[in-house]
Amino acid sequence: MSENTTTNAGDAVPAQRTASEPLMRVEGLAKHFPVKAGFPIKRTVGAVKAVDGLTFDVFPGESLGLVGESGCGKSTTGRLITRLMEPTGGRIDYAGRDITHAGRKELAPIRSEIQMIFQDPYASLNPRQTVGTIISSPMEINGINPPGGREKKVRELLETVGLNPEHYNRFPHEFSGGQRQRIGVARALALEPKLIVADEPVSALDVSIQAQVVNLLQNLQRDLGIAFVFIAHDLAVVRHFSERVAVMYLGKIVEIADRDSLYNRPRHPYTHALLSAVPEPDLDAGSRERIRLAGDVPSPINPPSGCRFRTRCWKAQEKCATEEPPLVQLSGNAEGHLTACHFPEEPTIKADKEVILDPALASLESDSE
Ligand SMILES: Nc1ncnc2c1ncn2[C@@H]1O[C@H](COP(=O)(O)OP(=O)(O)OP(=O)(O)O)[C@@H](O)[C@H]1O
Ligand code: SF4
Ligand SMILES: [Mg+2]
Repeated sequence: MSENTTTNAGDAVPAQRTASEPLMRVEGLAKHFPVKAGFPIKRTVGAVKAVDGLTFDVFPGESLGLVGESGCGKSTTGRLITRLMEPTGGRIDYAGRDITHAGRKELAPIRSEIQMIFQDPYASLNPRQTVGTIISSPMEINGINPPGGREKKVRELLETVGLNPEHYNRFPHEFSGGQRQRIGVARALALEPKLIVADEPVSALDVSIQAQVVNLLQNLQRDLGIAFVFIAHDLAVVRHFSERVAVMYLGKIVEIADRDSLYNRPRHPYTHALLSAVPEPDLDAGSRERIRLAGDVPSPINPPSGCRFRTRCWKAQEKCATEEPPLVQLSGNAEGHLTACHFPEEPTIKADKEVILDPALASLESDSE
């Protein structure tokens, strides 16, 4: 029997957030990349449905985590909402303005307010430019002259991200991976953004360095009131950083909730499986239930009918193949905890299913509490 539902995704605003209007509102967002074949004339024969109908809000100053396996559409979502890419469907409102198909001119005033931090600190910095040039270039492109000049601002930014301002004239290769990512963070901060989309900002770094960079981002978010969309495949990192978390599978959000609700009461089988896969810090693995997902992620060119997770779901029934489950609030869930499943998990809290963090990140979590 399927669960009773009380609200739908359109009403997905947790009580504590109704006071503030969303900074960004995303509705039914889609990106289908055409697949071409044929010779000599190439024709469109299908589409990669990389992002296929996402609805979520980002509130001022909050951190929203976006997690899911490789290829589920996280980076594409990041590029769409920063408008580095044009959506093929849906709508993006930023600060009350429709920016879904806004052109270069219309986007100009908000370009500075929405910034992106990229996954690879090696590839995302021009090796021929000095750190000073890299960090000041967004100001130059946008014609911004801060009081005291750009160089002074860059030196301040270097200090903000924990780097030596004297290193202004150094080149990226003279820095470690973690330091390079700090340069990327300084560049994103240069225009005093209101929203930063961080696409796996620490996954290329050592775990010990990851913790430092996550801590830096968290402090910046708190001190500067910047909203973050934090993309990761690692639930432990997201738990540390994000107050709300959205779980994606094959181009769709399958569950979205406040952190504690999602981690303690996951209702979607996929979320449950992802949580069970978080690494153990000790060898006492026998006390936790482990779920191993069978099979590979299906192709986004031809996703399964009904529920996209059904080919790997141990709870799948006939209805799952014929009816797509809507993203709704199930009875018994906290407000704003939405799940897309016909046969969800029980809303029980079990200590043995608690997420166990990587030790380096766990120490940060206890520092921040
Ligand atoms: N420019 C493109 N043209 C065609 N297909 C694309 C393009 N960019 C991404 N895709 C496809 O869209 C899907 C989603 O890709 P995306 O990079 O958003 O995933 P992701 O969740 O960020 O994965 P990862 O965790 O590996 O970074 C993938 O199947 C990918 O192959
Ligand atoms: S709708 Fe069906 S296949 Fe999809 S997650 Fe729920 S039980 Fe599994
Ligand atoms: Mg990606």
